Amino acid sequence: MRLLVVGAGSTGGYFGGRLAQAGRDVTFLVRPGRAAQLQKGGLQIVSPHGDVILTPRLVTADRIDGPYDAVILTVKAYSLEAALDDLAPAVGPDTMILPVLNGMRHVDAIRARFGARALIGGLCRIPAQLDEQGRVIQMGKFQDLAYGEMDGSASARIAALDAVLTNAGFDAKLTPHIEREMWEKWTLLAALGGICCLMHGTVGEVAAAPGGRDFALDLIDEVVAAVTAVGKAPTEAFVANTKDTLTRAGSSHTSSMYRDLQKGAPVEADQIVGDLLVRAKQAGIAMPLLSLAYTSLSIYQGQLAAAG
Ligand SMILES: NC(=O)c1ccc[n+]([C@@H]2O[C@H](COP(=O)([O-])OP(=O)(O)OC[C@H]3O[C@@H](n4cnc5c(N)ncnc54)[C@H](OP(=O)(O)O)[C@@H]3O)[C@@H](O)[C@H]2O)c1
Repeated sequence: MRLLVVGAGSTGGYFGGRLAQAGRDVTFLVRPGRAAQLQKGGLQIVSPHGDVILTPRLVTADRIDGPYDAVILTVKAYSLEAALDDLAPAVGPDTMILPVLNGMRHVDAIRARFGARALIGGLCRIPAQLDEQGRVIQMGKFQDLAYGEMDGSASARIAALDAVLTNAGFDAKLTPHIEREMWEKWTLLAALGGICCLMHGTVGEVAAAPGGRDFALDLIDEVVAAVTAVGKAPTEAFVANTKDTLTRAGSSHTSSMYRDLQKGAPVEADQIVGDLLVRAKQAGIAMPLLSLAYTSLSIYQGQLAAAG
């Protein structure tokens, strides 16, 4: 199966790199800057599961040589539209597109662009980032890639994709509940992002501050109510676990959006927070706490844009 990994950043570099290391037929769609970096130093992964330097097969958008069997889409939300333009020549009538982006906006964008059949539900859990040398640094041990047909069906194509993704050096999981799991992940990220970015602290720091724990619980309730109304309701076990994790005393847990914010990097505020507010508003649901977080994030984004 020919795989095209779009983006060789933290997630694409990691999962695509492990797939290449396991001998799968992997090509990375990259832009010229990243291509030059990878040609010079290779694709380097630094990980508790073992470091590796690979010589990846690369292609730029102008050189895509026809359809691939599957596309693993690993760009940030703010790069999505341009990436869909770039990867279009790689999409044929039977190409599966498995995105690992957070939120659900990209789901609509992929369906609108390539048709509902092209989409495979997907999500990943991995604490990874690129360092200043462009190496993929995995900061914790977990490395999950979950996927499945959006309607939960056990199709032949998803079985074929599963066969290629399993036993490739990370935890691959085919699930019949991928759509609900994507909504659950969005629930977690919107709540975690709202808590950390609005309060400028880790989960533990917020929990320890006066009123912090109640604020976090109220924000979680708000997000769960909205997601239940506009998407797929999270399970009770998921909600209980989320409340426990996001209010834990002493926890150094933060959101990747908060880490980006601390670095002065662009944040996925519209994908993770803004889009949920839009959907909630359309359904007549008020989200006062998450709205505050979005206002704060929007000010940050404006300052970033003004600074060029
Ligand atoms: N990092 C994590 O720990 C993590 C965990 C779970 C989920 N996610 C989600 O996964 C998604 C990807 O995040 P990430 O952390 O992997 O981002 P990232 O490290 O910024 O990597 C994204 C890569 O996409 C590349 N890219 C952007 N537009 C492109 C295009 N048109 N063609 C080819 N390459 C393109 C960028 O390359 P250049 O800009 O160098 O060209 C960059 O290397 C996000 O939605 C994120 O929320 C991330």
